[in-house]
Amino acid sequence: MFENLQNKVVELVPALKDLSPQESLAVLAEEFKGKIILSTSFSWEDQVISHMILSQDLPVRIFTLDTGRLFGETYYVWSRTNEFYNTKITAFYPNQELIERFVTDKGPNSFYESVENRKSCCYIRKVEPLQRALAGNHLWITGLRAEHSPERGDLPQLEWDETNKILKFHPLLHWSTDEVRAFINENGIPYNTLHDKGFVSIGCAPCTRAIMPGDDFRAGRWWWEDKTSKECGLHAHS
Ligand code: ADX
Ligand code: SF4
Repeated sequence: MFENLQNKVVELVPALKDLSPQESLAVLAEEFKGKIILSTSFSWEDQVISHMILSQDLPVRIFTLDTGRLFGETYYVWSRTNEFYNTKITAFYPNQELIERFVTDKGPNSFYESVENRKSCCYIRKVEPLQRALAGNHLWITGLRAEHSPERGDLPQLEWDETNKILKFHPLLHWSTDEVRAFINENGIPYNTLHDKGFVSIGCAPCTRAIMPGDDFRAGRWWWEDKTSKECGLHAHS
């Protein structure tokens, strides 16, 4: 059933090869009308892509996974984005029963106690809601960039996600941080002010901190764990 979709990678890679991110998004929005979505954490990458979609009025649904533990600054940029573009970003929430049981059983901050608890928290607050958000769609747009990590450096811009059985497109994969920042400034796009305070990669508040110049991009995420476990399960292998 998914074979046809998977085969689209071969067809689309040459078609997108010489296009800008804006042009690629327009082509894909047309090709997958009604079945194409962007996940946003309101990071500056996601804000750039949202701008490309909303300013061209592309038929792409934009959603966020509200884990319930985001920074106040993230909720603020979410509200600003709705106002600025006169839009409504779709919100997905953790399954009520799962999260109530988990927090009751383990306490509110059990992610600091073990990798197992941390992964369960990420599963309940992000991965399971993501699966609901992606259901029925054919193409998922993300803000992943090669600079984020060696694993992301190896990604193709358009790929087949076997876990979620969906095509995945990363329009800013090869953009540098400077290019992202310049696009934000040139277009007056609302962005998360934590980016001005040493936060490069921004996730949940209890699990994200600022980094020092020269640190890895993702050094501020789950900083108390060793490097091998640092992923939340949203993106397999990255
Ligand atoms: S994560 O895997 O560590 O959580 P990261 O914060 O680098 O991911 O963000 C990479 C991409 O994942 C974002 O550009 C966005 O597409 C998606 N993403 C991450 N967190 C969320 C979220 N809370 N809601 C929606 N999408 C998200
Ligand atoms: Fe839970 Fe932290 Fe994962 Fe957010 S990042 S879902 S608070 S463990």
